[in-house]
Amino acid sequence: MIKTITDALYTTRSTAIFLALLLASSHAYSQCPQYRKIAQAPSALFNQPNPLELTRQHLRAGKRAYKSRDVGCYKCHGKKGTGDGPLALSFAPPPRNFTCAETMASIPDGQLFWGIKHGVPNTAMPAHPALSDEQIWQLVLVLRGMVDKD
Ligand code: HEC
Repeated sequence: MIKTITDALYTTRSTAIFLALLLASSHAYSQCPQYRKIAQAPSALFNQPNPLELTRQHLRAGKRAYKSRDVGCYKCHGKKGTGDGPLALSFAPPPRNFTCAETMASIPDGQLFWGIKHGVPNTAMPAHPALSDEQIWQLVLVLRGMVDKD
């Protein structure tokens, strides 16, 4: 009997600790500003502004890729770019939160391009060798549009 009560208490305590950790870690996914593990892109690319104009056509193509299953950015970064997609809970560091104005203002276009193309070693961020340069620049336009305006 005593053993059962101790077990029950132990289980309750573990559950509470688990829930607390879950809460604490899920908070990291919408953090703003956010820690970035990625290195800096080579300077020529770092200083390269997006060569594409902000047209409806480019935005539409970029959004389609972002939400498509095979490209799958949303699975980690979330449909709205808040960094909390269905796979996000399993990763440390967490996916970038593109809605965070402070973080995004500190990342130039060329750096976003470089991160998408080559991925970030030792994190969940994959390289995207199947995407053309134009598709990557279209994605950069989409990410810029996700920033919280207020
Ligand atoms: C499997 C999960 C996963 C997928 C899929 C994924 N990302 Fe990421 N992404 C991450 C993680 C984790 C990071 C954080 C890396 C870090 O801290 O530097 C990240 C970081 C980034 C960055 C950060 C660049 C910087 O300089 O801070 C960009 C841009 C980005 N992702 C864009 C994308 C786009 C666009 C797609 C789809 C083409 C995509 N990601 C798909 C997990 C993912």
